[in-house]
Amino acid sequence: MTTTIIDGVALAATLRAQYREKALQLTAAGHQPGLAVIIVGENPASRVYVRNKVKACDEAAFYSRLIALPEATTNDELMAQVEALNGDAAIHGILVQLPLPAHINAHRVIEAINPAKDVDGFHVASAGALMTGATDTGFAPCTPAGVMEMLKSAQINPAGKHAVVIGRSNIVGKPMALLLLAAGATVTVCHSKTRDLSTITRQADILVAAIGKPRFVTADMVKPGACVIDVGINRDAAGKLCGDVDFAAVKDVAGAITPVPGGVGPMTIAMLLGNTLVAVKRR
Ligand code: GUN
Repeated sequence: MTTTIIDGVALAATLRAQYREKALQLTAAGHQPGLAVIIVGENPASRVYVRNKVKACDEAAFYSRLIALPEATTNDELMAQVEALNGDAAIHGILVQLPLPAHINAHRVIEAINPAKDVDGFHVASAGALMTGATDTGFAPCTPAGVMEMLKSAQINPAGKHAVVIGRSNIVGKPMALLLLAAGATVTVCHSKTRDLSTITRQADILVAAIGKPRFVTADMVKPGACVIDVGINRDAAGKLCGDVDFAAVKDVAGAITPVPGGVGPMTIAMLLGNTLVAVKRR
């Protein structure tokens, strides 16, 4: 059996080239897509993610604005920044990088974003739109949206398949389950309290791992021929970058699999650009 390695780098590059064309057309018509990214504090991983988002904007001919605030920023100061961007016509999308420092009320900040600019898809208005299938409003969170694009590129139609999602976060697990459900899958959501997890994962035609534990999904947890999507970005004990899936062993069981790095990660940023284009068109 040959295993398909789903190449997120190549797919993201194709999408970004298409988005660049659209951005140039919109710019020529006086509507250059604009994304604002706010980061608070010094979290090194967040700094890297944010820099990559701004770089992707530049390469796709989007306007971008990076707002880097000190760790000691107050709730009110951050809310004032969001309010200013809500009223700024050059900005179509606003992203507040998570996690925020513990003294900030992240929920309040996200709810302050104009839902029409919520390109991260974390506002309750976007969550509600996803829940109810109101696809003409709201934005799908970028990571699960990227996974759906990867399935499409690998010609894997979720309809009628059993999709098992490990993880129940608002950023990945829950919206992932809703997108797969909307695409016609039978969806099971597993998490840290799930009993006899591997009995469930072995039933999966599509297995999405979003748990944040290095190489947690082992070959014995995977049905032969299944499509395995790895959302994890971890460092193992030796400091090596790895996903939530034991890629070396699982690739010999799976029918299709995403690598880490080079899988879901690059797709997340591509989807952010895609959502920003949607925001421009809706306005
Ligand atoms: N932190 C980890 N992933 C994300 C993301 O997709 N968006 C934001 N804003 N913060 C994150």
